Amino acid sequence: MKTINIDKKYIGRDSEPDEIEVAQQKGSYLYSRRGKKYVDFVMGWCVGSFGWDNENIKKKIQNFKGPDYVSPHQLYKPWVEYARELESLAPKKLKKSFRSTGGTESVEIALQAAMSFTERQKFISLEDGYHGDSICTRSIGSPEYGKWYKNHFSAYRIKPPLDEKSAERVALRLKKRDIAALIMEPVICNRGAMVPSQNFFDIIQEACKKSGTVLIIDEVATGFGRTGKMFACEHFHLQPDILTLGKAITGGFAPMGAVLMSDELSQAMRYETSYYSTYGWHPRSVEAALATLSYYSENRDFLETNTQEMGHYIVDQMSQMDFKEEPRFSYLGLAIGVSFEDEDYGEKIVDKAKEEGLILSEGEQGFTMFPALNIDLATVDEGLEILRRSL
Ligand SMILES: Cc1ncc(COP(=O)(O)O)c(C=O)c1O
Repeated sequence: MKTINIDKKYIGRDSEPDEIEVAQQKGSYLYSRRGKKYVDFVMGWCVGSFGWDNENIKKKIQNFKGPDYVSPHQLYKPWVEYARELESLAPKKLKKSFRSTGGTESVEIALQAAMSFTERQKFISLEDGYHGDSICTRSIGSPEYGKWYKNHFSAYRIKPPLDEKSAERVALRLKKRDIAALIMEPVICNRGAMVPSQNFFDIIQEACKKSGTVLIIDEVATGFGRTGKMFACEHFHLQPDILTLGKAITGGFAPMGAVLMSDELSQAMRYETSYYSTYGWHPRSVEAALATLSYYSENRDFLETNTQEMGHYIVDQMSQMDFKEEPRFSYLGLAIGVSFEDEDYGEKIVDKAKEEGLILSEGEQGFTMFPALNIDLATVDEGLEILRRSL
């Protein structure tokens, strides 16, 4: 029986599987079982940020000698080494790391800490945002995600465009002093790489401070260089109270997430069973995360410059292409969104590009691209040429 038919029979999914059956990956290329080669401009959606099968990261993981598992209550040196490194790289308020298995769990912990700290129950999030798949994270995401059950939390939604006006509306709402946390991505990868204005963040940050609202910046997608800086909040001089991480944290080699928060907030989690996570920071995952961080640190200048230059280059090249409809671009570094008036046009391009050998992701009224941060010009041009043929 074909894999796709076995998949349909035994794997639970929200929709039909993609027809590409992955056999191998290398750098920015993906190879299917049928031997077809694809240029990958999505990289597992912000996961394989350092190229698939990255030799530097892989070598370190292959030399790992154990232990098999460490219980959450025990001590483990690589945990403290990793937490110390994160602390040295993150915005300065953030001192403590909480271990998690992925992005959704990171956001869950962040929401929980904000509620415990403020003793409030309400949230503010971006309209049609996405922060994970659990019931809590869905209830602060798009109302569309929560329509199958009664929301646990009430969330006031921020309406784009993310400018001074929308920030002022949020600031007014925060004056009631009943909101536990405001959560958002710094560059909204889940909404076509939307980039908020500096004014927006200045007003929001100040209003959160004044109203005792916890500012949670969700960098599950943008963390580890996606926008040309280690964390996207650096572009906006943000000092969040909590930062959530996942996806590229191990370059795709192992599942893991992390939550960084201030000392003050972490104290609010000091009650019994506030937090456990059996597989949070599994030793193999931490080995991959340490290897990923050292790859990032050793190549930081190159990765950040390449991300910014390739981002500009890709958008510049696309702006000279013959799209059937005027495209709108939104991007920072290699988080790139292209949108159109006609919603279906983006979907058609994604499908056609796949046929031609380029992987894109459907995004807000168009498509998004999240190429590897170390992608070279020849591969970018190869991908763009396929895109040109797919319009
Ligand atoms: C911004 C953001 N937060 C949280 C998540 C959830 O992460 P995970 O799928 O690892 O649970 C995602 C996943 O796409 C995300 O984009």
